[in-house]
Amino acid sequence: MTTSPKPTKQKENEQQRIDQRLNTSLSQPQLNNDGKLRHFIGVEGLNKAQLQAIIAKAESYFDAQGKLTNSNELAGCTVMNLFFENSTRTRTTFEVAEKRLGANVLNLDIATSSTKKGESLRDTLWNLEAMTADIFVIRHSASGSAHFMATEVTPDIAIINGGDGWHAHPTQGMLDMLTIHREAKRPFEELSVCILGDIKHSRVARSDLNALKTLGVPDIRVCAPLTLLPKGIERYGVTVYDKADEAIKDCDVIMGLRIQNERIGSPLLASSNEYFKNYGITSQRLALAKPDAIVMHPGPMNRGIEMALPSAWRCCLWQWKGKGLISKQNPKALISKLVNQ
Ligand code: CP
Repeated sequence: MTTSPKPTKQKENEQQRIDQRLNTSLSQPQLNNDGKLRHFIGVEGLNKAQLQAIIAKAESYFDAQGKLTNSNELAGCTVMNLFFENSTRTRTTFEVAEKRLGANVLNLDIATSSTKKGESLRDTLWNLEAMTADIFVIRHSASGSAHFMATEVTPDIAIINGGDGWHAHPTQGMLDMLTIHREAKRPFEELSVCILGDIKHSRVARSDLNALKTLGVPDIRVCAPLTLLPKGIERYGVTVYDKADEAIKDCDVIMGLRIQNERIGSPLLASSNEYFKNYGITSQRLALAKPDAIVMHPGPMNRGIEMALPSAWRCCLWQWKGKGLISKQNPKALISKLVNQ
């Protein structure tokens, strides 16, 4: 009588990869076949109830006095932060949030890692995976990198996209939706929202536009020089304005975006001064918005180019840091509950 050899861990992992591929859609690897989140790669493809659930989960971290609470939801869970591209806010708020949720946290120092010796993203990933990680948070300059990782990892690992190229920045997007939910004076279904700036090169803009549309915002406006608007922007259901004064008029929410100089190959602006004159967010311009409007900017900010505002005037930008903490921890907590359900 012969017995089959015991499967090795490597073979088990390979089988899990195959099973995972069969159990998810290639176009939407963040969802299981039953529609539940197992990664968080982008806002697009999620429905209104799913976005509302993320906002509600984020709200649950505030106590009755509006202060952030800690929990041990990620106790025993190992989170690896893999930032292949520069970051201040996202990397630090993820780390703080992971610790507040009780996770074991490892920050890979990319500058001194073997990626500098030519190791591929896939090999880096597979080696870290073998060290029993539960969640990878990734930022990478290549659009699609988070999607790629989600199709490569074993099913017991969740990928959270901390920004991939021009494509998406979903935790920033949900942070912005949480901020609007808490700070705007009307529900999403009654808002006028204006996004000004470099929409073409902005992953934040793509995530925000998808989320605003899905959450039912009826009046979404974008305003930028033609060179900073992506072709086909209308498919997001937005109205394009070329004059900032008209775009801002009667809006509830005004968001400025940075000129993404690192992603712009050739000069797309005649001059920064001219840009500020035509598109900069100023107190004078905001006088055209609703009297209770809020002003947002995801950071980093080029002061004097996108915005020039007296501090704290009708502005939630300076409250952003605290809110960033809670919204950016939220998807991880949510995913930790959803993975493998
Ligand atoms: N808003 C944002 O993603 O900032 P960082 O690039 O500093 O993470």
